[in-house]
Amino acid sequence: MKLFIDTANVNDIRQAAEMGILSGVTTNPSLVAQEGRDFIQVLQEIIDIVDGPISAEVVSLDAESMVKEALPLADIHKNIVIKVPMTAEGLKAVYQLAKRGIRTNVTLIFSANQALLAARAGAQYVSPFIGRLNDISVDGVELISDIAHIFDVHAIDTEIIAASIRHPIHVTQAAKAGAHIATVPFEVLDQMIKHPLTDRGIERFLADWSTLHKK
Ligand code: E4P
Repeated sequence: MKLFIDTANVNDIRQAAEMGILSGVTTNPSLVAQEGRDFIQVLQEIIDIVDGPISAEVVSLDAESMVKEALPLADIHKNIVIKVPMTAEGLKAVYQLAKRGIRTNVTLIFSANQALLAARAGAQYVSPFIGRLNDISVDGVELISDIAHIFDVHAIDTEIIAASIRHPIHVTQAAKAGAHIATVPFEVLDQMIKHPLTDRGIERFLADWSTLHKK
C-alpha cells in the first residue's frame, strides 16, 4: 500500500517527502481553507515537492461547472488529479473528464455501490472515508475490504484510497483490507514512526556505547 499525505500544509508535506515515504498528496476544501493561502500557489508549491498524484478538489455542484473548474486545475501539471464529490453530477463530471484523459478521485465514498459507480464512470481513484464512518458507528475498514473484493472480482483497475484516517491502526487495517493507498494526516504519519521500545532501545544503546569510551 502506498502512502499519500492528507494536507494542504506545505511544511508538513516537505517534512514527509524528505523521509521518502510519500507517493502523493490529497487536499480538500477544508484543508485548503485551514491554510488561508491562495489555492493555486499552494498547488504549485506541492508540485515542486512531490512527484506523484496531487488531488485538487472542485467546489461546484453541477457537472458543467465542475468540468469548467477542473480544466484549468488539470492544466497546471500532469500530476494534478481532480477530486470530485460522489453525486450524480459528480459522476457526469468524472465521465467527461475521463474522456479528456483527466484523472479523477471520487471523494466522500461511504458505500461499496458508490465506489462501483465511480469506477464505472471512469474514476482513477475512489476515496472511502474510514473515520467518518466510524463516527456514525459503521465499520469503515469493512467497506475498504468490500470495495477491494468487488474491484478484484470484476478486474476493475480503479485504485482505492483509504481516507479519513484518524490513527495508525487505521493505516494497518486499510493495508490489510486491500487499499492501494492510504492518505494520512501528518500527525498520524508521525505517530506511525514512533514506538516507546524504539526510544528505549536507542537510549540503552547510547548509554552502553558511552561506557566503552570510559574503559
Ligand atoms: C480525503 O481525501 C479527505 O481529504 C480526508 O481524508 C477527510 O478526512 P477527515 O474525515 O479527517 O476530514
